[in-house]
Amino acid sequence: MHVLTVLDHPDPNSFSAAVAHAFMAGATRAGHTVELADLNAEGFDPRWSLADIEADGSPEQIPPDVALEQARIARADAICMVFPLFWWGMPAVTKGWVDRVWSWGWAYDQLDDPNLSCQRPRSGVLLVPAGARSDEMAEKGYASALETAWIDGTFGYFGFSPRRLELLYGSTGSPERRQGLLQRSHEIGLGLVDPGIGTGKR
Ligand SMILES: Cc1cc2nc3c(=O)[nH]c(=O)nc-3n(C[C@H](O)[C@H](O)[C@H](O)COP(=O)(O)O)c2cc1C
Repeated sequence: MHVLTVLDHPDPNSFSAAVAHAFMAGATRAGHTVELADLNAEGFDPRWSLADIEADGSPEQIPPDVALEQARIARADAICMVFPLFWWGMPAVTKGWVDRVWSWGWAYDQLDDPNLSCQRPRSGVLLVPAGARSDEMAEKGYASALETAWIDGTFGYFGFSPRRLELLYGSTGSPERRQGLLQRSHEIGLGLVDPGIGTGKR
């Protein structure tokens, strides 16, 4: 498979960057080809604009930076998004990438079923370093809220199938803990499954 990893972090020495590289190393070891979209290094503009609205449903009007990201997606069979959990949600650049690139008429349209996308199925994984502990996230309902918002409510519309959210809890913890999380990221890259399992496509 061809695997696209989308990283949102301005620091190349961050834990999030290490997670992305561990995942890619696993995917490479499994025999897949890999590609990295380093959104901050590449200066992706996350601001949803009038140009984006005017391009909805009109492929010839798509802004060039969005078209470039859509071309990356088009050649991928699997997509891994890596971003740190910020205020129980996505950081701004990831949010803007999702809003702008997975556009109406290209990724989805008037759909009642969140498992139906205009896109072909792609295996999808979210690797999300989070400072909080797993018990804290479970107790307050944050983990299930994110699962609902992203896995039930967002990424099915984009054709992520199968899709999974991996919260990398305690990402600011001890070196041993962080090493364990990197190992897990590597194994997820190694064990990527083929797309199209579990959901339908129109
Ligand atoms: C602006 C900001 C908001 C954050 N919000 C959360 C949060 O809501 N929940 C959480 O568990 N950690 C939160 N954190 C901690 C980050 O998730 C953590 O620092 C990050 O995963 C560490 O990875 P990094 O070294 O790649 O930045 C936040 C950090 C920052 C800077």
